Amino acid sequence: MNDDQGKNNIALAERNMGALMKIRERFEREKPLKGLRIGMALHITKETAVLVKTLQAGGADVAVAGCNPLSTQDDVAEALRAEGIKAYGYKGETSEEYYKFLNQVLDLRPHITIDDGCDLITEIHLKRTDLLGELIGGCEETTTGIIRLHSMEREGALRVPIIAVNDNKTKHLMDNYYGTGQSTLDGIIRATNVLFCGKTVVIAGYGSCGKGCALRARGLGSNVIVTEVDAFPALQAHMDGFRVMKMEDAASLGDIFITVTGNKHVIRPEHVARMKNGAIMANSGHFDIEIDVKGVREMATEAARVRPFMDRFTLSDGKEVYILAEGRLINLSAAEGHPSEVMSMSFCGQALACEYLVQNRLENKVHLLPEEIDEAISRLQLEVMGISIDKLTPEQIEYLNSWQEGTS
Ligand SMILES: NC(=O)c1ccc[n+]([C@@H]2O[C@H](COP(=O)([O-])OP(=O)(O)OC[C@H]3O[C@@H](n4cnc5c(N)ncnc54)[C@H](O)[C@@H]3O)[C@@H](O)[C@H]2O)c1
Repeated sequence: MNDDQGKNNIALAERNMGALMKIRERFEREKPLKGLRIGMALHITKETAVLVKTLQAGGADVAVAGCNPLSTQDDVAEALRAEGIKAYGYKGETSEEYYKFLNQVLDLRPHITIDDGCDLITEIHLKRTDLLGELIGGCEETTTGIIRLHSMEREGALRVPIIAVNDNKTKHLMDNYYGTGQSTLDGIIRATNVLFCGKTVVIAGYGSCGKGCALRARGLGSNVIVTEVDAFPALQAHMDGFRVMKMEDAASLGDIFITVTGNKHVIRPEHVARMKNGAIMANSGHFDIEIDVKGVREMATEAARVRPFMDRFTLSDGKEVYILAEGRLINLSAAEGHPSEVMSMSFCGQALACEYLVQNRLENKVHLLPEEIDEAISRLQLEVMGISIDKLTPEQIEYLNSWQEGTS
């Protein structure tokens, strides 16, 4: 590996994260995070490095650990450490090491946490409650984290305010949709070099991520089947032109399976038993629980690693099926995660959420960022892409605010 690879990758990300760089310029001038300690558990990618440096530019002391044992980009982590930044983790770390690194971040005694999956906040609430006194609040990056936080809120367990950055339009309708759509297929292709056209791709979950994956798989010429548990997204998938059915029916039809539900054991041994010889399973949901990997391992007569992110399982009838990246999110394990352009919008949300937490006293609940901030991120992104849009005329504003005027 080129010694400068991490540094070069970060510079390339900076080039493609114009909106976040504009926030960095303002942070450099205004120092809105001066004196704050920020503890992060995010995938350590080149884009995360750009966020770390942006928060530092705002005056914060930052420590970062990975939020998944397979997603750290070692060259980037190394480049951060070379600059004296506290970056903990490496690709392929064990579960014990994973929690050790999270706790090294918590040793910073953060005023603000930035989580992707809610592990720092959970760790603080379960084991490090001494940190609650200094904690102003936290920011959450992904749908799975938000689901966990809402359960904490419902049970009255949440002891700090949290900003649901994932729920910004400029996050889940961009990153989860366009980002996961592209990078999930990228991960599967890098892991297997499989041809997508002509294949039947089964996508479990038709939320923001599932819609993106279905769109991109169709774009590559695949026949897409969607499985769902909720009626409305199932209906949407049908109206978007995809076949919708139960996983037990899709199991025997699919060549490639992608789970993006945020739920547990969506593909189970009884489904795997019905799969075709050579079927490939990949997960792009946050945790490695969507495919019951342990169940598949137990039903297999033989298991072998055939490529770095591709495990083959031989079943008792002689059929072979594959699971990619041990069921961990494929786009960050076998590829590089989302392209910088979409992460720029997500991380504008994180940077502005930190500033918002400092400027506002919030209740111990899960909060949305105000719509004006989300709108400002859209405008910034349009600006860096050189796109101008129309402005409402005074007559249009008056019309939209009135009710008397009907057909002419
Ligand atoms: N890989 C990545 O880089 C990346 C990026 C963003 C989000 N995520 C993660 O992806 C997952 C999905 O996120 P999202 O934003 O699309 O969530 P979402 O809530 O928008 O969509 C999830 C969908 O899955 C459906 N679902 C739940 N259980 C199911 C089951 N048993 N079978 C079929 N469908 C089921 C739900 O009804 C819902 O429509 C989360 O874990 C999220 O954290 C990953």
